[in-house]
Amino acid sequence: MKKIIIEGRKKISGTIKISGAKNSIVALIPATVLTNGKCVIKNVPDITDVKTLLEIMKDLGSVITFENDTLTIDNKNLQNKLIDEKHASKLRASYYFMGSLIGKYHKVSIAYPGGCVIGSRPIDIHIDAFKKMGIDIIENGSIFDMSVDELNGIQIYLNFPSVGATINIMLASVLAKGTTVIENAAKEPEISNIASFLNSMGARVFGAGTSRIVIEGVESLGDGFVETIPDRIETGTYVIIGALLGNNLRVENVIPTHIEALLYKLKEAGVKYSLDGNSIVVSATENLKPINVKTSVYPGFPTDLGQPISTFLTQCNGECLFEETIYENRLRHVPHLNAMGANVKAFDNRAIITGKTPLHGRKVKATDLRAGASMLVAGLIADGVTEIQNIEHLLRGYERIVDKLSQVGVNIKLIDE
Ligand code: EPU
Repeated sequence: MKKIIIEGRKKISGTIKISGAKNSIVALIPATVLTNGKCVIKNVPDITDVKTLLEIMKDLGSVITFENDTLTIDNKNLQNKLIDEKHASKLRASYYFMGSLIGKYHKVSIAYPGGCVIGSRPIDIHIDAFKKMGIDIIENGSIFDMSVDELNGIQIYLNFPSVGATINIMLASVLAKGTTVIENAAKEPEISNIASFLNSMGARVFGAGTSRIVIEGVESLGDGFVETIPDRIETGTYVIIGALLGNNLRVENVIPTHIEALLYKLKEAGVKYSLDGNSIVVSATENLKPINVKTSVYPGFPTDLGQPISTFLTQCNGECLFEETIYENRLRHVPHLNAMGANVKAFDNRAIITGKTPLHGRKVKATDLRAGASMLVAGLIADGVTEIQNIEHLLRGYERIVDKLSQVGVNIKLIDE
């Protein structure tokens, strides 16, 4: 069991360098399965989810080196084996092996994916799309056995622009016969990152980043190269921290347009920040104004920043309305926030957050990854000492978080019991 101990209320200054995006790399790694060539992926974050995916890849026969944030994957001797529950259930993104293995071998056996408990998180949109592609799917307990004789391009309209389903359809269709068109596709920046990688191997994916993606199937793929985009959620988390405690905190290696919705909201609250090349420089502001935040799909306010911003809202002077629209269960951190002194009244997926309330150091839990980020922000602004338990969740998505915060002046340590 790992926990973090933080001594709060320290001003922070200096530079935090943002790592590669978790939600890109977790798809880029399974995408390598599609080629027998060599793949080089740069700017790879050293996070638990990456370790888990590399374990699965090694089990399938990949030869991997991971040095200085560069991953080299050689799949010459890959074998199409069962991905069992022990591996698949450790993270959500194991479902990308459905798309890539069926695309390459026309057959895959894989257990149900895991991931944070933030809602029911079905995969019906993925399954519907696979079935439309002619894939037979048999559920044996927790195992999906999928097979198809020949993969053919399809036209598909997604009832919801699911990030995972959009990527999975891309993975399954790059080697299919004919053209696949995804209408109402997800537009998150991670989708374009995956498309660039596939195209570097010789795939023909057009329109990624828009709501209509066209994939012209090709016969085979070659070597691949890609740089993982900066993590917009890690960026947003540190910008929020800077808005509460920063003294010219520089958050660098970022793409500011990827977090425009957050920057807009912070500006509305009165936060002062500036853009300097690929950096955002942010300082703490007194007298924050109350704002309302509603999460939505990209380019709306990201659901993954909903929990961290809710801690920020406790420091605004007045009543803030918060609404989560993507997941049913993303307010499980609220009791912990209230235990620290916040005034948050939650009703289903909405909350009224009334501030400004001082927060006090307490023993709290990270109930999921972004809840952990919310508790971290709370611990940083609280008086006294905060202990955050179940921090394994946080380590799944934030690279070297303790080092990064220590370097800008935070008194924080990780304890592994
Ligand atoms: N949904 C369905 N059926 C499906 C797929 C999705 O009902 O077949 C629902 C989900 O239950 C959810 C909503 O649609 O309510 C959004 O799901 P989506 O498929 O877009 O998300 P995802 O691919 O499961 C990825 C990230 C999430 C991030 C979302 C939205 C990965 C591994 N996960 O999830 O990241 O919240 O996109 O941007 O890429 C996180 O990093 O904390 C995290 C949860």
